Amino acid sequence: MRRVAVLGSTGLVGQRLMAMLWNHPWFEPVPVTLSSDKAGKRYGNVVDWVIDWAMPEGLGELTLESYELNNLKELGIDFVISALPSSVATEVEPALAREGFAIVSNASSMRLEPDIPLINPEVNASHISLIEEQGKRGWKGFIVKVPNCTTSILTLTLKPIMDTFGIDLVAVTSMQAISGAGYHGLPAVKIAGNIIPYIKGEEDKVREETKKILGSLAGSEVKKAGFSVMASTNRVPVLDGHTLSVFVKTKKTAEPVDIAEVLSEFPNNEIAGMGLPTAPEKPVKVFDATDRPQPRLDVDIGNGMTVSVGRIRKDPDTGWIKYVALGHNTVRGAAGNAVLISELLLRKGLI
Ligand SMILES: NC(=O)c1ccc[n+]([C@@H]2O[C@H](COP(=O)([O-])OP(=O)(O)OC[C@H]3O[C@@H](n4cnc5c(N)ncnc54)[C@H](OP(=O)(O)O)[C@@H]3O)[C@@H](O)[C@H]2O)c1
Repeated sequence: MRRVAVLGSTGLVGQRLMAMLWNHPWFEPVPVTLSSDKAGKRYGNVVDWVIDWAMPEGLGELTLESYELNNLKELGIDFVISALPSSVATEVEPALAREGFAIVSNASSMRLEPDIPLINPEVNASHISLIEEQGKRGWKGFIVKVPNCTTSILTLTLKPIMDTFGIDLVAVTSMQAISGAGYHGLPAVKIAGNIIPYIKGEEDKVREETKKILGSLAGSEVKKAGFSVMASTNRVPVLDGHTLSVFVKTKKTAEPVDIAEVLSEFPNNEIAGMGLPTAPEKPVKVFDATDRPQPRLDVDIGNGMTVSVGRIRKDPDTGWIKYVALGHNTVRGAAGNAVLISELLLRKGLI
C-alpha cells in the first residue's frame, strides 16, 4: 500500500478523492489540511459532505493532518494528490516537489509549462516521461497535472478521431455544471434557473491544454497539435456533469458511423491492458438514442470515468462532424483522473 496525502480533502474534488481512495487496492488516503484551525480534528466533523456518493463508513474517523513537512515525513507519505485552489497550489506544490514528493495535482497552475506532464491517461500516458526534465529545476520529486475538466472530457473524444481521420479545426460550446466552480463557487441566486455565458479563464484553458494533450512527444518536449480549438464556455444549472456540443473538421472524410466506431473502440488507448483499477472498461460510450447523453441519466456511467457521446452527425453544408459529449467534471475531470494517473505512476515504478 502507498500512503497518499490528499491536500484540499474537504472540497468538492477532495470529497470525491477521499471516496475513491478509501478501500482502493493500492492506496491509503491521509487527509491533510493547510489550515491550523482544522488540523488535528476528525475529518467527519470538519467536512460538509455534499456529494451524491455516501461517505464510506469509517472515513469520517480519520484525523485531518497538518501540512508541516516533518509531519508528512513522519506519517510516511509516499506521494501527494492536490485538490487545492490554484492560487495556493502555485507555492505549495513546487515546495513539496523540491523536498522530494511526487505530486498529482488538479490545480491549473503550471499546466502549460513544458516540463510538466498534463495527463489524460488513455490519451497521452506516454507524456509522463517529461518528469525526467524536472530534475533540471533542482527538484527531488516531481509534479504531474490533471487537465482542466472540460479539456479532459473533450480530449478523450478527440483523440481517436485525430488518430484515424486527422483534425483541421475544432469548435466546442460547453454547458458546465455548478460543481465545477467548487464548494463556494456560485450562489444559488445567481445560477438557479439561469445560464451564465462566462467562466473566467476557461476558454483559454480548453484551447491551450487540448493542443498540449493531443500533441506529440518529440524527445524531451511536447510538440503541440497543429489545429485550432475554438471554445465558448457556459455555466448552467446542472449539479454534476459538463455537456459539450462539439464540431470537428476532419482531414479525411469521415461518416458518423465511422466516428461512432472509432470512439467505441478507442484504438491506441494508451493504458489499455495495464490493469489500472480506476480505468473504465470503456473510456467512451456511444449512444444511438437521439436524446442522449443527459447529465442526470448518464453522468455516472463507468463510475463517472466514462465519457458519453451521442448525436453523432454530419453537417450537410460543411461536412463537419457534430456530436454531444458528457463527462463527470469532478470525477473524470478531476479526482478520478488524479487517481488513474497515480495508478499509472505506480505501474511505471515512479511512486
Ligand atoms: N470542481 C471541479 O469540477 C474541478 C475540476 C477540475 C479541476 N478542479 C480544480 O481542483 C481544485 C479543487 O477544486 P474544488 O472544486 O474541490 O474546490 P473547493 O471545493 O473550493 O475545495 C478546495 C479545498 O482546498 C482547501 N483550501 C481552500 N482555500 C484554501 C486556502 N486559501 N488555503 C489552503 N487551502 C485552501 C480546502 O480544503 P481543506 O479545508 O481540506 O484544507 C478546500 O476544501 C481547484 O484547483 C480546481 O480549480 C476542480
